Amino acid sequence: MSNKDSVQIAPAEGKLGVLIPGMGAVTTTFIAGLEAFKLGLGKPIGSLTQLGTVRLGKRTDGRSPAIKDFVPLAKMSDIEVACWDIFEDNAYEAATKAGVLETALLEQVKAPLSAIKPMKAVFDQNFVKRIKGPNIKAEGSKMEHAEMVMDDIRQFQKRTGVARTTMIWCGSTEVYHQPAAVHATLKDFERGLQKDDPEISPSQIYAYAALKSGVGYANGAPHLTTDMPALIELARDVNLPICGKDFKSGQTFMKTLIAPGLKSRMLGLNGWFSTNILGNRDGEVLDEPGSFRSKEVTKSSALEHILQGDLYPDLYKEFYHKVRIEYYPPRGDAKEGWDNIDIFGWLGYPMQIKINFLCRDSILAAPLVLDLVLFMDLAQRAGMRGIQEWLSFYFKGPMHAPEVYPEHDIFIQLMKMKNTLRWMRGEDLITHLGLEYYD
Ligand SMILES: NC(=O)c1ccc[n+]([C@@H]2O[C@H](COP(=O)([O-])OP(=O)(O)OC[C@H]3O[C@@H](n4cnc5c(N)ncnc54)[C@H](O)[C@@H]3O)[C@@H](O)[C@H]2O)c1
Repeated sequence: MSNKDSVQIAPAEGKLGVLIPGMGAVTTTFIAGLEAFKLGLGKPIGSLTQLGTVRLGKRTDGRSPAIKDFVPLAKMSDIEVACWDIFEDNAYEAATKAGVLETALLEQVKAPLSAIKPMKAVFDQNFVKRIKGPNIKAEGSKMEHAEMVMDDIRQFQKRTGVARTTMIWCGSTEVYHQPAAVHATLKDFERGLQKDDPEISPSQIYAYAALKSGVGYANGAPHLTTDMPALIELARDVNLPICGKDFKSGQTFMKTLIAPGLKSRMLGLNGWFSTNILGNRDGEVLDEPGSFRSKEVTKSSALEHILQGDLYPDLYKEFYHKVRIEYYPPRGDAKEGWDNIDIFGWLGYPMQIKINFLCRDSILAAPLVLDLVLFMDLAQRAGMRGIQEWLSFYFKGPMHAPEVYPEHDIFIQLMKMKNTLRWMRGEDLITHLGLEYYD
């Protein structure tokens, strides 16, 4: 199957604007990385767009170009970042407070980071309860706030002369909400913005403003934002890509590596207990039950969808799955996760797997931010609109069409992503059938 020449991709000329609501640990680690790479300090480890390859044709063809040479991606050095945050710290100060990167490295990128000062945020304490900051937009209706964000976007584009712009949420996790009546249609949503409907969150105001300004939107947090009919409708109407939710960076990344392996060997699961300690601001926000609930939902759904208890009742019908996050300030960003996995094999004999992942949250998340902004820009130039399911690879709770279940298996996600890239370039999709080698 191939569709040679059917996807027109506009070239990645000029600078790419990246707008980020939330300038905390993840964002500043991402920005500091971009600046450090310009100085030859370190490499973008963890980034598929920078280090990955894609095999083309048969295994005997020897064609495995770098992804960044195969599809026209913006260069890292062409990225211009601007952020919003409720705190006034510039990116250097925020990075120092986040405590992810060493002072010696930060000192070397101090000048460009200090130049990034956050724009005033759209903030509502009802959605993020544990933090309070002074750098917020003046009183006004939700529609007026959306217009202010649109104005911020215009000013940024004018000031920097970027050719294209994309937005990615790296702000705090908002409290758990399900789609309400105001999210049913774009008309309902716009009326809700005017009437200050309490069900419209700040992240939805940013997303609406982005889409109205010709800017695609990715959601790195687990809350609802565009995962509702009104904003999906808007994205489709204006031919823009959207994707989310919640970066798949640490414990859930591990889960989606292990679970497909257990299933591939038809090993059963009695229970999976995951807990972790983290002490950064994200941990503080997630210590509040409403925000934790958003996270719990995205963290919990992966196993059920991968293991498919309905298809394999002998193995996965009744497993117990528990996810905990403990806020523990001494650890800062150096999260530690523990998984206890109770499995069973032949004749039902029990076994256990223990995983102790001493990770660094933002070090794992920063390359995902990079890949997502580059792929969202690519999608936009390729005219791909609405939900970008091929970017599920990056998310704990991938957005998906209502009629299909989300694909959580990381190996299927990777295959889907690479096949999408092949499809974009009119190359044969790879099925791994391989019978031709034995004819
Ligand atoms: N590995 C990871 O670090 C990881 C993985 C998955 C998801 N996430 C999610 O990414 C997000 C960012 O994580 P982080 O560790 O950088 O958190 P952080 O607390 O360090 O940074 C979030 C920033 O967002 C700001 N903020 C909150 N509400 C805002 C608003 N309405 N407008 C503008 N700014 C706002 C906060 O002031 C804070 O500076 C969180 O939602 C987190 O759950 C992170």
